This record gives sequence, C-alpha cells and structure tokens, in this order.
Amino acid sequence: MNVGWTFAEGFDERGVNQPITGETISVPHSVMEVKNGYFDETITQRVVTYQKVFSYDKAKNHRYVIRFEGVMARATVYLNGQWIGTHIGGYVAFEFEVTDVLEKDNILTLKVDSLETGDHPPFGGQIDYLTYGGVYREVMILEMSMDRITRFLVDADQKRLNARIEIDGETRTRKVDLLITDQEGTQMSLHQESDALSIRFESDHPLLLWTIERPKLYTATLHIDGEAVMSTRFGARSVKVDQNGFYLNGQKVFLRGLNRHQSYPYVGYAMPKSAQEEDAELLKHTLGVTVVRSSHYPPSKHFLNRCDELGLLVFTELPGWQHIGDDAWKAHAMNDLRDMMIEHYNHPSIVIIGTRINESPDDDAFYEATRDLAKSIDTTRPTGGVRYIQKSHVFEDIYTFNDFVHTGDNEGIRKKKDVTSTKHPYLITEHNGHMFPTKSFDNEERRISHAMRHFKVMNDAYKQDGVMGVIGWCMNDYHTHKAFGSNNHICHHGVMDIGRNMKYAASAYASQGESPYLDVLSMMHLGDRASGVIKEVVVATNLDAVELMIGDEMIGIHTRKKDRYKDLPYAPIVIDDLVGNQIETHERFSKKDARKIKNILLETMRNNLKMSVFSKLVLGLMMVKYKMSYPEAVGLYTRYVGGWGAENRTFTFVGLKDGKRVIKVQKGFDDQYALELKTTRPVMTITDTYDVSRVTVEMKNALGERAFYANDVITINVDGNLRLIGDQSIAMQGGVQSFWVRADEPGQGNVTITSAHHATLSVAIQTL
Ligand code: GAL
Repeated sequence: MNVGWTFAEGFDERGVNQPITGETISVPHSVMEVKNGYFDETITQRVVTYQKVFSYDKAKNHRYVIRFEGVMARATVYLNGQWIGTHIGGYVAFEFEVTDVLEKDNILTLKVDSLETGDHPPFGGQIDYLTYGGVYREVMILEMSMDRITRFLVDADQKRLNARIEIDGETRTRKVDLLITDQEGTQMSLHQESDALSIRFESDHPLLLWTIERPKLYTATLHIDGEAVMSTRFGARSVKVDQNGFYLNGQKVFLRGLNRHQSYPYVGYAMPKSAQEEDAELLKHTLGVTVVRSSHYPPSKHFLNRCDELGLLVFTELPGWQHIGDDAWKAHAMNDLRDMMIEHYNHPSIVIIGTRINESPDDDAFYEATRDLAKSIDTTRPTGGVRYIQKSHVFEDIYTFNDFVHTGDNEGIRKKKDVTSTKHPYLITEHNGHMFPTKSFDNEERRISHAMRHFKVMNDAYKQDGVMGVIGWCMNDYHTHKAFGSNNHICHHGVMDIGRNMKYAASAYASQGESPYLDVLSMMHLGDRASGVIKEVVVATNLDAVELMIGDEMIGIHTRKKDRYKDLPYAPIVIDDLVGNQIETHERFSKKDARKIKNILLETMRNNLKMSVFSKLVLGLMMVKYKMSYPEAVGLYTRYVGGWGAENRTFTFVGLKDGKRVIKVQKGFDDQYALELKTTRPVMTITDTYDVSRVTVEMKNALGERAFYANDVITINVDGNLRLIGDQSIAMQGGVQSFWVRADEPGQGNVTITSAHHATLSVAIQTL
C-alpha cells in the first residue's frame, strides 16, 4: 500500500470519504523537505492529509488488517468514511482490523498531525533532534485466516527454542505446527493439538548459534490446520551481562559502538529499505563497530533485519529525551515500550533494551513499571536505562551511563565507582558529541583532535575493568532544533557527516575493525598548522607498521609507541619524526652524530624553536667538529624539519602486515584536482516501494587525497527513471557531498554532475 497516495496540506473531517486533490506520492514520505542547514524547524510540524483510493478483492472467511510501520506523530485513520482508529507516537508500528469495513472500492484517509504537542513521548521538553512528520515507513494490508496471530515470539539459545503464540480467534481445537527451516531445508518441526488461544512450543533440539562473525538465521513458520499463517526470522544466541562485561553465547564481547539517528538530508526520516540497510552496513563494515545504539527510539525493521544478517549488535530504547511528562504521557511511554518489544522481539541482533527515557531524571515508580513491563515480555535480554546522572537509582540490569568527562587532555572516562556505588554491570552509552562538535570542513587540528578524543575515550574504556563497552556520540551529523546545533540546525557530532562521509574521527573506529585499514590523519600541509609545524602524524591503522617515504626516499619505519592508547585493540601509530634517516644519508656527519643533530632539531621544533642549554652545547661541539657555520646549522633545520616553502613534500605511508605492504596512502603536493562521482548502489530494485541510491561527489588530487576545503558548486541532473532528492545545485562541504536519487519504477537513468572548473561526470544507475 505504499504507492499512489494523495498528499495534501490541512485536514477536513467532512472530506474523509471523498477523493481529495493534492500531490501524488509514495511512502516513505515526509511532510516537508529539510535542507542542509538553516531552515525553520516548524516546517516539520504540520497537520496534513494522506489518502489512498484502492480496490481490493476480499476472500471469504478471511480477516484484514491495515498496518502502518511508522507515522509521525499522531495518525487518525478512516476507511470508507468510518473512523477505524487513532495512534499516538511516531516510532512504533500499529495496525487496525478492517475486515468489516473493507470493500471492493475503498478510500483510506489519514489525518497526520506532527505538531510537537507535549502529551506523549518524545515531546514535552526540548529535544536534540528533529522528528519530521509524515507516513515515513511503509503501509500494508494483511490478509489472514480467521485466526489472527497477535503475537509470534521466538527465541532460542544453545540449549532450547521457545516460541509463544497468541491467537485472536474462536475457541476450538487446532492442529498447530511450527517448522524451523534454513537454506538447507527443515531443521526441526514441532506439533501440538490444542484448544488454547495461547500456545507455547519448547524444544531442546540444537541449532547453530547466531554470532557476530557468523550470524546464522533460521525461519520459523507457523501452520494452523495445515495452512502456513505466519513466519518470522530468528537466531539462536544467548546474552548475559555481569560485573565483568557482556557475553554473547558465553563469550565475552567488548561493545565498541556508535549511536545512530535515523535521519537523512532533505527527507528526514523518510528513507526506504536500502538506505536503512546501508547504515547498518556502514556501521559494520566501514566503521567496524560491534554495537549500535538506536538512539533514541526503535529503528526501522529494515535496519534491524540487516543487523541480524550482519551480526551487528543493537541496543534499542523507548522514545524520549530527558523529559518525563504526566501520567497520561507515561502511559504512552509504556505503550511504546510494549509495542516496540513485541514488534522487534525476534531480532537476534537486539541484545539490550533501554527502559528509561534517555537522560531523564530518576522516577522510581515509573522505572519500576517500565522494568516490570519489559520483564513480563522478555526475560532473555538485559535491560539498560541511559542516564547522565551519577549515583542514580537503578531498576535495570545494566547501569548505562553517558560519560562526557573527556575534554581533550584529561581522563577518557570516569571511574565506575564514582558513577555508581551499586554492583551493576556497567556500559558507557555516549561520549564526545557536544563536547567537541566538528565539521568535515573544520581545520585539520580540530579534526585530528576530534579523532584523538574518540581514541582516548575508547582506550580508557578498554582499560578500566568492569566496563562492558563504550558507544560514541555519534555515527552521523543530524538536523536538530535551534537550541542545539551549530547555529545551522545541525549537530556536527557525527564521525561521519550527514551524507555518511567519514571525518577523521571515523578512522578511530574503522581502524579497530578486522579489515585492513590505514588512514593518515593529516594533509601534511604546514600552512594549515599553528606555527607551521607538524609535530606528529597520527596513522589510524590496524596494520603492524608504517613505512614512511618522502618523494622516492624511504626515511623510516614506525610501529606503535608502547605508552599511548595501548589498551585499544589497535592503537594508532604516531609518527613524531618526519626527518628519519635523511641527515644520515645526505650529510657528511657520522651516523651517531647525524642522529644527535636530528634529535636536537626535532626537540627545537617541538619546543617552539627554543633550544635547551644542553642541546646548544652539543650543537656547538658538532659545529666545531665538522667546521659547520651557523647558517649551515640553520639550513639543516629548514631543509629537514621546517620544510616551509619546500618545492616537493610528497609523503608516502605504506602499511605493513606480517612484513607485506598492504595499503599505500599518499599525502602532500599535487595540484591535479578532479571530481570523482560514485554511487553505492548502481543497481536499485523496486519491491514494495521506490528505491534510492546514494551518490557521492568528491574532489581529490592525483594522490587520491580529498580536497578538504573545496566548496565547489556542483549542478546535478538526472534523467531516465531517476529523480533527485534535494537541491539541484549544491556546494561541496569538506571536499565531498553525498545526495540520494530515487526510482519509482524500473528503468535506467544517469546522474550527471557539472561544475565551473571540472569535467562533466556521469554515472549510470539501473533499476530492476
Ligand atoms: C546527550 C544526548 C544526545 C545528544 C548528545 C550530544 O546528552 O543524550 O541525544 O544530544 O548529548 O552530545
């Protein structure tokens, strides 16, 4: 039911049974376009009408349900003039039975109201993100037998499988079969004959485990009287937490992760399946994390399905931000919690359930109630409750804490005992974020510092016993209310920008993963540095060593320093000597003396051109020994350390693994700048609705280095079956810009980029 809706501003109840005029749209849909910064946030809050006129051939002896995966923020639903239900809250799915109202020809009309009324979560206070009104997830009509399955919850671990089924139907004896299959065929089948409407299956038949490395999935299909009525995917895995950490299937896993907001440029939350999936892929493969927190609400099922497939762990939580409302508000929060837990119960990727409103104050009665509700549905997963207060009351299994103590040159995290005197398992659920907002086009010192802060907090979390993980704020920049953000309605807190392009801080994560990775966190240009010096170069890598060359000359091999970030799986390799063996090779001094001279020059550079008395003495001796004049000594500094005004400074960093050269990165001087145009999805597929493809234009030099300060304007043209999401003319930010194109029908199209100073580029995208 995603295609062929009419969308119109406002709502008139008298018109619910007449075709309205308006724009023809498909869902996912947003009530507005939000541009990349500097907009009026109230545009996301409106009262609008969505209508779908459709025909349906009803079968006899069946029941019908209309299901909405997500409508922000309140939906009043009418079918053929009759009110069939109202749903409050924008983050969970809801459905209404329409068996008696559904006709051959139908008019389905929705009043959608996205005003931020304070009567339900997440509203009532200020929130640091936008909620974007609209029917932003899919809509469907479900045809079912006279037995409507209202719950089908499946969980399994090493020892047992457990399935709970609730049937809304008449009381009679049924033959109920549960079939467990995978690609290889049926692995288990369980049978019962029962007249109960609540049925439970248990089995100790062993299944293959769902793990981070091999996320094995099964399908459970429910048959009633021989007819398949519902099926779901699930995985067999156990989750345990204790004071020492987090255990998946009995094995300790350190939860290294990022928070994610589900928002995108222009369309806010309204992105279809493939974009949701791509975020999960970016987290798993590009950023190398083990866990994502779906801050601050349950994410799309497509995101979770992909996490299931990828072996990416998820901490999900009920909607809300800092504010707790009155009793009616709390009742909505309880409904959200119940619905999200039932809806997402079968995802093996979800390993922690957040039962507190993010960063809200203590409210014992409320949080006892959310805990009890959660435990009445699910005893297989631990609960958490994200807070920023120390020594707060705990009703959850894990004390989950946002630790913003790090300011750049102090400890990365607080001591657990200073945060809680209880013996609870302990997880850090946010860090950095607003402590150091960083734009992709900020100067390099800030971008490096942003990355080092993420390294430092992660390192200290690995170091401290009893910290089960650390989840950074956050994956990507996001639109926000004006009270937050950098004056442009954007929180530049991401390790990626809003288009999902990596900042240096993203490399702090990517370098902790297992795929070979090397990024040099510097452009190696003195002109972008205070005092024109590069004291050290940080190489974010999981390789063993880095070979450094200047021009064609190999000047040194660098490994990890023993004392810095040593608790990380892969500490960055910090190179604090860009002189290397050059003085030895090119000057007339003995090897030993050349090193002495180099150390004096480096020390002078590090101390802002001040030389210690001892160094002065040694240098004096060298000048006498080698009959070196003062200008000659200064010349050594300029040539090997200063580098200012040098003709050619091209640095090559080669990452070594087991002695083999694995990755080469070059930095320095090259003026052959060109645009590069790429898409992550050259082939899209129309399934239940339109599809999208992310297109990235990046300015690079011939060394392959991004032109970080390029803000060239590009004009985008699409043809064939493609439509551009967003503005046609955009400026690059931080040398890069991503945008999305969509296809509503199969076909072929091209995305073409023109700009004032570069060749025109095209990329073809096919839609199946
Ligand atoms: C936290 C909050 C997040 C985000 C973050 C910015 O306090 O939970 O939603 O606002 O700060 O650092």
